[in-house]
Amino acid sequence: MALLTLTINKQSYKVDVDPETPLLWVIRDEVNMTGTKFGCGIAQCGACTVHLNGAPVRSCSLPVSAAAGQKITTIEGLSPDRSHVLQQAWIAEQVPQCGYCQSGQLMSASALLASNPNPTDEEIDAAMQGNICRCGTYPRIRKAIHRAAAMKPSGSR
Ligand code: FES
Ligand code: FES
Repeated sequence: MALLTLTINKQSYKVDVDPETPLLWVIRDEVNMTGTKFGCGIAQCGACTVHLNGAPVRSCSLPVSAAAGQKITTIEGLSPDRSHVLQQAWIAEQVPQCGYCQSGQLMSASALLASNPNPTDEEIDAAMQGNICRCGTYPRIRKAIHRAAAMKPSGSR
């Protein structure tokens, strides 16, 4: 076990865990933020996507020790009140079906817009290809990203 300090959504948390524990387990079970989902556990589906220093990472496959001292953002940190442009666009386009993959989708989409405020369809598909949706919401995800880009050309975090 090791005492680690994590910065999640701009708040500091001290956790006493095995340093090899996947970050996802710590976020959900130690910090009690359950918006980030477990899907495959092997970095193949994207359900567990969070940002590490602004870049999308698969938290199921990242040892928590690698995230200590870094800036972690989860779906709870996207906005406190669903006001993020992507959340607004997701609602307007009625993107989710079962919803399970959607926090990961939103985190990948927000990282995309932060680096590319007005992505093409091809750029969206490339950035989002690691996020699987069993419900097949891909066309609505693409539309919602375009809508969000139009709402706020400077993108998001
Ligand atoms: S749960 Fe992490 S990529 Fe599937
Ligand atoms: S909305 Fe059901 S898996 Fe994506």
